[in-house]
Amino acid sequence: MKNVLVIYWSHDGRTARIARRICEVIGAEGHRATMMHVIEADREGVDLAKYDILVFGCAIRYGEYHKSFVNYVNKNKALIDSKPNSMFSISAIARNPEKATVEGNVYARKFMENNPWKPHEMVCFGGKVDYPNCNPIDGFLIRLIMTMTKGPTDPHSVNDFTKWEDVEAYARHCLTLK
Ligand SMILES: Cc1cc2nc3c(=O)[nH]c(=O)nc-3n(C[C@H](O)[C@H](O)[C@H](O)COP(=O)(O)O)c2cc1C
Repeated sequence: MKNVLVIYWSHDGRTARIARRICEVIGAEGHRATMMHVIEADREGVDLAKYDILVFGCAIRYGEYHKSFVNYVNKNKALIDSKPNSMFSISAIARNPEKATVEGNVYARKFMENNPWKPHEMVCFGGKVDYPNCNPIDGFLIRLIMTMTKGPTDPHSVNDFTKWEDVEAYARHCLTLK
């Protein structure tokens, strides 16, 4: 039985929900998976060495992965590198299939090029844009981003861009990492 840890950063809950789905699938496959917010992992501590596979997930906001996530993976680079590992990246632009690859997704590509810690592999999933739950400034700015990328801009709309079957396949794939 494999013991998998999924460390994530989420602002509005979608990346957390994706981490949860990954854990559910791994559990249903007969293995053990634990999800942990990166702030808990960092401040309360977690023994990465006791896990067989490490999975990391982070949402994009305003073109960036959150600094708490970036700092954590860089600080723990040596230990993470010693384990099979993978990262999933959540963004609105990844709703487009050509931006759901590392090469086509500017955030994923820059992370792989410039970040000191690089996951053994990275995948990109679409997130969720929930205008009614955005504060006015965020709502205005995300609408600008969506206008530029030809996405939905109706301020009353809740837009789910996650392909859950891809998330589930990814969870099963993570179990095969060596
Ligand atoms: C304020 C805000 C800024 C965002 N900025 C970007 C962005 O620059 N590029 C992008 O592709 N998606 C962007 N998104 C979309 C998020 O990546 C998407 O909503 C994701 O599901 C958020 O994950 P979370 O719910 O785990 O926080 C933004 C969303 C919000 C609310």
